[in-house]
Amino acid sequence: MSILKVDPQKIEYTDTSQIDPDYTNKMNKEYNWMAKGYDAFMIVFPLWKRWIKKVIPYIEGKKVLEVSFGSGYLMTQYAANDFDVYGIDYNEKMLEIASTKMLSNEISAKLSLANVEFLPFPNNKFNTIINTMAFTGYPNGDKAMAEFKRVLKEDGILLLVDFDYPENRNLLGYWIVKLWEKLGDIIKDINSLLSKYEFNYQDISIGGFGSVHLFIAKNK
Ligand SMILES: C[S@@+](CC[C@H](N)C(=O)[O-])C[C@H]1O[C@@H](n2cnc3c(N)ncnc32)[C@H](O)[C@@H]1O
Repeated sequence: MSILKVDPQKIEYTDTSQIDPDYTNKMNKEYNWMAKGYDAFMIVFPLWKRWIKKVIPYIEGKKVLEVSFGSGYLMTQYAANDFDVYGIDYNEKMLEIASTKMLSNEISAKLSLANVEFLPFPNNKFNTIINTMAFTGYPNGDKAMAEFKRVLKEDGILLLVDFDYPENRNLLGYWIVKLWEKLGDIIKDINSLLSKYEFNYQDISIGGFGSVHLFIAKNK
């Protein structure tokens, strides 16, 4: 079976020294045209919904922040509960679509436009931060993680779903991650970042041959 495993030396994270300084704005242009079709994409690829919904049972406390909510699908799945929900996204069209969706679902959530690197909230505000399928789209994982840490309460929880290499280095999962990188995302060593920012965390493989991870990270 070892023939199906990738050599550990091939597990390389994206070289961040090569990232275009205008990366976020360029990706944002892509999201402008993706926004309208985003819900349709989730219908033809229902696994996506299944993956991101894995965070729901782990939400804790009253104040919840969803960073990079996209078209707001996930929010419709948990926000009707007794949470005080906030959300930010960088893309205006996503914000428009998600806001309309919240209105039509009679969900009250405070949504705004912002960059993950500068979250418009005071320190220690949230019990839970949700971040799904967005972390590999940030140019600077360090800054994003530092902001998560700053706005989380001391015992708050970060729930992060994204692509990372499969722990068992299986070839299929490895290729999926490489494909994601080819499509323009920045593959990050999320485990190291969580350790650096002193989270106590679990890394659970939830699909994609081990390439889709759910990180349940407790602030300490
Ligand atoms: C692939 S979508 C994921 C949307 C949703 N969370 C999901 O799971 O389907 C990535 C989202 O991240 C947002 N995003 C990208 N860069 C961002 C940044 N620097 N700050 C905040 N949001 C950002 C995009 O606008 C987009 O809505």
